[in-house]
Amino acid sequence: MSAASSFGDALALFAIFFEGEHNSLHPAGPSSHDIEWLYWVIFWIVFVAFVLTMVAFARASKTYSRSEEMLPIIKDEEGDRRATWAVGTAIIITVLTLFAVLFMSVITGKKVEGMSSSNPITIQITGHQWWWEVTYPNPQADQTITTANEIHIPVGKPVVILTNSADVIHSFWAPSVHGKRDLIPGYSSAFWIQVNQPGTYPGRCAEFCGLQHAHMGFSIVAEDEATFEAWEQQQLKPAPEPHDAEAIHGREVFLTHTCVMCHTIHGTGAGSRVGPDLTHLATRKMIAGETLPNTTGALAGWIIDPQRIKPGNQMTPNPLAPDDLNALVTYLQTLQ
Ligand code: CUA
Repeated sequence: MSAASSFGDALALFAIFFEGEHNSLHPAGPSSHDIEWLYWVIFWIVFVAFVLTMVAFARASKTYSRSEEMLPIIKDEEGDRRATWAVGTAIIITVLTLFAVLFMSVITGKKVEGMSSSNPITIQITGHQWWWEVTYPNPQADQTITTANEIHIPVGKPVVILTNSADVIHSFWAPSVHGKRDLIPGYSSAFWIQVNQPGTYPGRCAEFCGLQHAHMGFSIVAEDEATFEAWEQQQLKPAPEPHDAEAIHGREVFLTHTCVMCHTIHGTGAGSRVGPDLTHLATRKMIAGETLPNTTGALAGWIIDPQRIKPGNQMTPNPLAPDDLNALVTYLQTLQ
């Protein structure tokens, strides 16, 4: 890799961290506001402690740095007593400050956990190596929505997030929405999120979970009630029937190759849940755990050789003939 491109990569990484809303200092909801408040309180306490320490060091070095040779030890009882007092007072102030920080952390934790609503929307998030399964459970199976990586929620409403993991420990983190939450295999946990401004808030896996941990992104799309309900209605429908010959051939390719062994497309025979549900793939902006944009080229590249893009992931290469690949991509792009 050339120096110029690694510099470019570093800049891109910098841009990701400071871009728009991928930032815990740009809170978008009540719990992230509370977390930001606590951050600034601790920041200013630490800043004051830093300045005081530096001033004390500067004074001490100014007083004692003048002579080169070792000074004789002078017995100074008055000075010793003053030093004991100063150190004792500093220890007491430090301990009290740490207790104050502990108290504020506990209060903030309680506030963040304490949201409630009588009829909340519930979303089940399951971590997979290396993507996020997103389910909107409903007692009626045909009213359950399953999608991947893109979490739609209504603005201004508390939403319950239930977490689980299908394999190893992951951590769900959308910095401008909530703190981190670990997803532990075999354990379910629940927490609330709420977003008060419409927008798309990116999130990441924040616990090292294997080779492609860095490529395990998701996004929270907060939209007004009407848009959210329209999205829900759309997602509940089975996959649209393909009309033109190319797309019909593409569905044939999907159902007769390895795709069908891992993916679901409602309304066809495909019902496996190893990989993401593709029923409404074309409505999603990104693919592959938000690694690639959902474009023709990226889709085709991902299908042909996913191991080159995300080595170690569960999807096998699919060396399709060019006509079959084109037809398959055309079909996938009809899945609105
Ligand atoms: Cu999943 Cu890191």
